[in-house]
Amino acid sequence: MKALVVYDSAFGNTEKVAQAMGEALGAEALRPGDVKPEHLKGLDLLIVGSPTQKFTALPSINGFLKGLSNSGLDGVKVAAFDTRFPQSQVDEVGILAFFARLFGYAAEPIGKRLEKKGGHLVVAPEPFFVSDTEGPLLDGELDRAANWARQVAAAM
Ligand SMILES: Cc1cc2nc3c(=O)[nH]c(=O)nc-3n(C[C@H](O)[C@H](O)[C@H](O)COP(=O)(O)O)c2cc1C
Repeated sequence: MKALVVYDSAFGNTEKVAQAMGEALGAEALRPGDVKPEHLKGLDLLIVGSPTQKFTALPSINGFLKGLSNSGLDGVKVAAFDTRFPQSQVDEVGILAFFARLFGYAAEPIGKRLEKKGGHLVVAPEPFFVSDTEGPLLDGELDRAANWARQVAAAM
């Protein structure tokens, strides 16, 4: 199975999550600027992830998704993830909770855009949690990321 993880990261947390997934799958984890056409050729599984910033994915990830051809992911299994604050932390800041309810997070729109390009979304978009803006990740998140990636690969 040829799999690829595409991610971006401002402070390194999403990178760690993406690399844990890549290791679990025996796949490369690349930033959008490093993805070449041959990486996408004959792909069976594409996982895309971004830190949530201002309720959405980073521009580099949105640009990568936009740049995929319209049916470029036909027949490809896809999955999406993000990193974000835990719900309890968001709820502590009223205005943040309000806008988060309104605009959401990065993973769900990434999943929708992957589907729009023909991808078959095999599991629900998944959040991974940081304890503060620059991290670190909550305990156990890297193991959870590796397990999630294995589940994605096994899903039909
Ligand atoms: C400018 C900015 C905006 C952010 N907006 C959100 C947000 O809307 N929701 C959220 O849960 N976390 C938000 N965060 C926290 C990021 O999700 C967190 O910095 C990120 O998960 C860390 O991953 P990284 O190290 O890969 O960049 C924001 C962080 C920054 C710097």
